[in-house]
Amino acid sequence: MVIRLTDIPEKGPAVADLTDIFFQSSSRTSFATAAERTAFLARWTAYYLDHCPDDVLLWREADGSITGYLTGCRDSAGAIPLHDGLPGYTVFADCFAAFPAHLHVNCRPDRRGRGIGAALIEAFASDCAGAGLAGLHIVTAPSARNVQFYARAGFDHRVDRAWAGHPLLFMGRRLHQGPQA
Ligand SMILES: CC(C)(COP(=O)(O)OP(=O)(O)OC[C@H]1O[C@@H](n2cnc3c(N)ncnc32)[C@H](O)[C@@H]1OP(=O)(O)O)[C@@H](O)C(=O)NCCC(=O)NCCS
Repeated sequence: MVIRLTDIPEKGPAVADLTDIFFQSSSRTSFATAAERTAFLARWTAYYLDHCPDDVLLWREADGSITGYLTGCRDSAGAIPLHDGLPGYTVFADCFAAFPAHLHVNCRPDRRGRGIGAALIEAFASDCAGAGLAGLHIVTAPSARNVQFYARAGFDHRVDRAWAGHPLLFMGRRLHQGPQA
């Protein structure tokens, strides 16, 4: 089932599970120092844990283990610390008005392909729709396997651009028909 990080009284073990899943899912696997590894984790997760804890959603199994997570942010344009920290974050800044929220989602490798990622996205989309947001988005690589996953989840507004020579794909999902959606 989907739960919120903020609904868990003892957050430490859940954040440790999120950290494990993050590194099991990252394409980057080697780090020169422990500090570099810590900084990499912080760049991708700290803003969400610190500023949007209500939008950190977890998939909890019947045995209590956490096997998937979603880190969401409802105001991409206002998330200034992310603008410098995340590669390519501002490449699609002109799309944020129509698709203001964004998310990252990862599942433990042995639990993929069972609908956990889709359930986490639906929970966040429902929260964003309830808050009256026009849409949400993700950014991925155009060649990534997860493109099909997001397309099935309703992210049908596609914008291809490049950042530092790397192709990036913006995928937006409309929630409400706003003036620019
Ligand atoms: C992408 C991901 C979050 C989807 O969650 P999930 O619970 O596995 O997804 P669902 O069961 O709801 O849907 C299955 C789809 O997920 C995607 N998927 C499954 N395993 C995947 C993997 N190892 N890598 C990338 N995408 C994967 C596929 O599109 C799959 O559909 P397919 O088998 O028809 O290709 C999850 O697979 C994952 O963590 N993948 C690796 C990390 C990743 O790509 N994260 C997103 C970063 S933008």
